[in-house]
Amino acid sequence: MTNVAIINNKIKNYKKKIFVSGDKSISIRCVLLASQAIGVSRIYNILESADVLSALKSIKRLGINYKKKDNYYEICGYGLSGFKTQKKIQINAGNSGTLARLILGLLINSKKEITLVGDNSLSKRDFSRVTQPLKIFGANISSNNQKLPVKIVGSEFLRPINYEEKLGSAQCKSTVMLAALKSPGITKIRAKKSRNHTEIFFKNLKIPIKILSKKNFDYIEVTGGHNFKSFNYIVPGDISSSSFFIALTLLSKKSRLIIKNVNINNSRIGIIRILNKMNANIKFRNKKRYKGELISDLIVKSKKKLTGINCPSSLNSSAIDEFLILFLVAAKAKGTSIFRDLGELNKKESPRLDIGVKFLKKIGIKVERFKNNLKIYGNPDLNLDGKFTMQNFRKDHRVFMMTCIAALTLGGKWKIHDKDSIKTSFPTFIKLIKNLGAKVN
Ligand code: S3P
Repeated sequence: MTNVAIINNKIKNYKKKIFVSGDKSISIRCVLLASQAIGVSRIYNILESADVLSALKSIKRLGINYKKKDNYYEICGYGLSGFKTQKKIQINAGNSGTLARLILGLLINSKKEITLVGDNSLSKRDFSRVTQPLKIFGANISSNNQKLPVKIVGSEFLRPINYEEKLGSAQCKSTVMLAALKSPGITKIRAKKSRNHTEIFFKNLKIPIKILSKKNFDYIEVTGGHNFKSFNYIVPGDISSSSFFIALTLLSKKSRLIIKNVNINNSRIGIIRILNKMNANIKFRNKKRYKGELISDLIVKSKKKLTGINCPSSLNSSAIDEFLILFLVAAKAKGTSIFRDLGELNKKESPRLDIGVKFLKKIGIKVERFKNNLKIYGNPDLNLDGKFTMQNFRKDHRVFMMTCIAALTLGGKWKIHDKDSIKTSFPTFIKLIKNLGAKVN
């Protein structure tokens, strides 16, 4: 039973200040970009989770050394041609879609075949979304029916491409941007809006990049072939990890939480925008800029009167990892909530749209689904008793954490499987909820 979380009680009221761990997207980008820089980079407050460890191990397989020091990691890069790819090797991305996709961009100049594998969940995900543009750069790629294992051999004759990113996927956009780094000439990307950490890094590292932002799309031009210097970076707190604590506080009674030093990049705060439209009143305090990213403390208080939302799909990409927790808040809100065009949710670590709908039904919430659109009939009086088990969710860390928050705020006796899934993105999650007073066995 060691891998099961048992929650039999709601959380009592609390007033606390917490730090969540470092941002996963930024941590992985730090590792990959440091592996391409010239010299020794230092990364502070990196997320020490399985996904980031897979990134560190992957660059090590490719000949890039890293060292853990007291409070930072040192990564020693040798520039854009610094990977050692003279022999056939295999790299394992574990559970991380971000790592698996982005690193393929960096392998388009590999000399020998590199095989990319991952865990069971990652092996079910689509890779054609990145292999297709990478082939146009000139790389030779084969896959197992568009899935892992993916084999890639680079080309000496890379060419820049024109690419249209239509899914609103930062992973696809970033993979192409990283490949563009290695290809001579100007790669032009028209990308549906999505998180822009890679663009911000490029600007900071003085990699030649031009960005023209329009309402729904960004036009990005990257000029390849320019080496860049190593860097120091302090990773800010993760808004996606914060979202579980935001929901916990909103849905519990008489509580107040300050979450310190969270990345509030505009392309990531869909969760705050949506919750504030639902009357949550989450506030920012001590806003500051750090190397192009915006960072702030978040202040959240319990809210008795949350209201349903008719959520514009233009907010989807900036809340893409937060929909499970949003469904839970919608379940407790007054009135109906409508979410649209959520097809991408089923392409994540687990089919989150399907699982979210099943979960809502399990806790007695009426939900209507039409294709990838959802209507959730909220019930502010929702209070559970009886026994609940949550399992078979492909060990998806976010499903596990959302279910813990449901158990702690709605009541009932819960057995939640795959506790170790939190190692992926937020290993200190259980410790932190216990610090707030939660009883979890
Ligand atoms: C990520 C982008 C998102 C997100 C993932 C991290 C990134 O995926 O779901 O957890 O770091 O670029 P998509 O870009 O494929 O939507």
